[in-house]
Amino acid sequence: MTDCAVRISGLRQAFGETVAVDGLDLTVRAGEVFGLLGPNGAGKTTTLRAVTTLLPVPRGTVAVFGVDVAVRRMAVRRLIGYVPQQLSADPALTGTENVALFARLFDVPRRERGARVRAAIEAMGLAEAAGRTANTYSGGMVRRLELAQALVSSPRLLILDEPTIGLDPVARTSLWQHVGEVRARTGMTVLVTTHYMEEAEQYCDRVALMHRGQIKALGSPAELAAGLGEGENLEDVFRAYTGDELSGRGIRDVRTTRRTARRLG
Ligand SMILES: Nc1ncnc2c1ncn2[C@@H]1O[C@H](COP(=O)(O)OP(=O)(O)OP(=O)(O)O)[C@@H](O)[C@H]1O
Ligand SMILES: [Mg+2]
Repeated sequence: MTDCAVRISGLRQAFGETVAVDGLDLTVRAGEVFGLLGPNGAGKTTTLRAVTTLLPVPRGTVAVFGVDVAVRRMAVRRLIGYVPQQLSADPALTGTENVALFARLFDVPRRERGARVRAAIEAMGLAEAAGRTANTYSGGMVRRLELAQALVSSPRLLILDEPTIGLDPVARTSLWQHVGEVRARTGMTVLVTTHYMEEAEQYCDRVALMHRGQIKALGSPAELAAGLGEGENLEDVFRAYTGDELSGRGIRDVRTTRRTARRLG
């Protein structure tokens, strides 16, 4: 069981009429970098939120290192670090304060907190900026600060939802390098979503292509591309499985999300 970081079987998540995740089966192996790809509205974030215990699991099962997320939520939370798609750092707090807040939330023992906060900030290359409020950080620095927040509890599984969106190429490479350094030290598993195919190709051991709440293809980036024929790449795989329904579906999803957001807010 321990060679399996995440095991999802038969997961279904619906929001009213919208079925976001539709009978999903997925296994992430311990130690790998697993990429979840798919168009807007495919159900990637919803899947990740079920794994992080932020959403209930109405149907199916989700386990993290063998621990059932529906049964032992706190135990699962101790195993994971999460960088959500929406920004999670507080702009009014300094870098150190932001990371210290997560250290408290994620149960880092009080005696170790100071050292662990400093180590997480240093590992993300933010030592010099640590005393400044986060509203003075660039986009790339904010993302690295959020990584420091997620890593301060030394998670065995790091979950990143579009960690490099909006970053310049140098900042994206830097973020992946920082993740790579932590993995080399700790053997941490990474579950990541991205819309950048070249990132998935370069950094992910395996990827799954998700569309309309289901996995359409799964394998190493090279295996998936080879499945289509010679000279193909992940972008061709993406296009082959999501096709030209994309635009119509996307617009409808945006509308649904906005309607729901209005109702909630
Ligand atoms: N809280 C919610 N309330 C209502 N509908 C939701 C909610 N969260 C997600 N959805 C719907 O579920 C579907 C899947 O959304 P999800 O955010 O999981 O997609 P995604 O693959 O992460 O997309 P993106 O690439 O745009 O981030 C969409 O149709 C979305 O509108
Ligand atoms: Mg998403």
